[in-house]
Amino acid sequence: MSDLVVVRDEGHVRVVRINRPDKKNALTGPMYQAMAHAIEQASQNRIRCVVILGVPGAFTAGNDLAEFLAAAKVGRLDHHAVRFLKALARSTVPLVAGVQGVAVGVGTTMLLHCDYVVAGIDAKFATPFVRLGLVPEAASSLIAPRLMGHRRAFAMLVMGQELDAPAAVAGGLVNVAVAPEQVDAEARKAANEIAALPPDAVAASRNLIRGPAEEIVARIEEEVGLFDERLRSPEARAAFEAFLARKR
Ligand code: COA
Repeated sequence: MSDLVVVRDEGHVRVVRINRPDKKNALTGPMYQAMAHAIEQASQNRIRCVVILGVPGAFTAGNDLAEFLAAAKVGRLDHHAVRFLKALARSTVPLVAGVQGVAVGVGTTMLLHCDYVVAGIDAKFATPFVRLGLVPEAASSLIAPRLMGHRRAFAMLVMGQELDAPAAVAGGLVNVAVAPEQVDAEARKAANEIAALPPDAVAASRNLIRGPAEEIVARIEEEVGLFDERLRSPEARAAFEAFLARKR
């Protein structure tokens, strides 16, 4: 298990902290694996809510771009990343996130699977998939238009327009914006509130609200097929190389 993801159970609440501050919490295969495992196993451990947190200044800068470049050479997204996305979609346990700082790519799209999201007023949400020559993932092409309407979803997912915390609240991506140093505590508070409710009633209500998980998984698979094609494209490879070369 990667120590770049720290998993801790606090009563009925499981806290999953992304912890790679020197790389703005960019996600690697082993990190996805650890996060997927923590979510998949939660229901078997009497966990009633999973909280995903980052570090000050970074929820996550998204997929590690060096790994995207390696994946471009193989021609396929890391299978742990796909497993993580499906774990989000299939989670029977409510998901809460606390976002400080940057939430790029999957850092934003994973929030679409969360049942409650707290953001710091310093939070910035960005999905630069198309600029990187890619397509949106994590079923964001299905969930974002439902959540925020076609035009706001298009501006975010295709044009790559960033949202600050107030815009994310207005767009329905975030429940509440608080001071950055209060994010973790507020997210834990919401998780404990959910965990204190009758769990079977929570599960039944959540199923009604979210709709069938397999519809979401099917969209993830459709997106992954296109994503893999785009990863192999010269425009994607050039974008990854440009980012990785920018400080040399
Ligand atoms: N993959 C790999 N490394 C990343 C990364 C990523 N997605 N995001 C940040 N890093 C690394 C940087 O290379 C840098 O490493 P270094 O100190 O060894 O050079 C370190 O994290 C700090 O990043 P830096 O860019 O200096 O911080 P910043 O505050 O100026 O900018 C971001 C933060 C998130 C805006 C910027 O790093 C960025 O745009 N990252 C890429 C995001 C991205 O495109 N993700 C993929 C989405 S599909």
